[in-house]
Amino acid sequence: MTLTPGKPHSLALEDIEDSPRGQGSVLARTLAIGVCGTDRELIEGAYGEAPPGHTRLVLGHESLGRVINAPADSGFATGDLVVGVVRHPDPVPCTNCALGEWDMCRNGRYTERGIKQADGFAVERWRAEPGFLVKIDPRLGLAGVLLEPTSVLAKAWEHIERIGLRSRWAPQHALVTGAGPVGLMAALIGVQHGLEMHVMDHNEDGPKPDLVRELGATYHTRFPAFEPDIVVECTGFPPLVAQAVAGSAPGSIVCLTGLGGAQHAATFDVATLNQSMVLENRVVFGTVNANLRHYHAAARALARADHAWLERVITRRVPLEDWRQAYEKRDGDVKTVLVFED
Ligand code: BGC
Repeated sequence: MTLTPGKPHSLALEDIEDSPRGQGSVLARTLAIGVCGTDRELIEGAYGEAPPGHTRLVLGHESLGRVINAPADSGFATGDLVVGVVRHPDPVPCTNCALGEWDMCRNGRYTERGIKQADGFAVERWRAEPGFLVKIDPRLGLAGVLLEPTSVLAKAWEHIERIGLRSRWAPQHALVTGAGPVGLMAALIGVQHGLEMHVMDHNEDGPKPDLVRELGATYHTRFPAFEPDIVVECTGFPPLVAQAVAGSAPGSIVCLTGLGGAQHAATFDVATLNQSMVLENRVVFGTVNANLRHYHAAARALARADHAWLERVITRRVPLEDWRQAYEKRDGDVKTVLVFED
């Protein structure tokens, strides 16, 4: 699956040469690719960059593959179920990238497979270096494709906890806004951490309310009446971001993970925001991407989850020959997956 970044609707299924050896010593065959909002932004031409010297980008950053060839000392073996790491460190490298914390890259010169200057995984066979590959529990099967989005939430929760340790930390209620795959994985990890989880989404029907309830969390179609101690905002919708900041408890932590709301302006009064953030020790922070530590944390979270529930999060499985349908957004969709091989 390829496209020309910056050129709307150039998405195509093409025959291309096999992944160059330089991409890594481990060779994997693609089982499935997850589709997310970032892919749609890439397709609309709003985001993304081709590898240097090329105009075409291979799409796909949410991967699931099976190893078909790996060096003996790589830690991987033929048959392993694996997921490729999306972001690679910048070449300088900055202090964070030098330490393997490429998710916190300081100079913006990182690359991201399937997104920014590096070919992605939506290709029959791909390569990766062992240090940019994560083995997953084989019992997860197709649900392993949820690892990459889950890694982003594993990072979000790690940072929430680290910020929480600034004082005695005993959060009670946490709210997730948005019950898409990102919000559901945020809720899953919150439940696993023993928190009372609430999820808000505008959908009154479809699969989302049940998916939330099956986790043991409470589903809301409006901002709840109580003030949450933690909000994980997963929509990027400015009015909801403003509500998350204004409606959370004193001393709360609001974690912003969503994107794509730039076209919907929301204004708020900076003086009021400042007053409440200072007088009530509030934190609002943003987070993106994940490093290897977070991929491993996400792999543990998925392994511990109810696998039947994870399967239900994947609401559409589209065979490769119907690839166009995988990139359409349909009512009732939670996670759509492009299946290369069963
Ligand atoms: C991906 C992240 C990536 C971000 C920004 C998200 O869709 O999951 O890995 O860092 O887009 O490009």
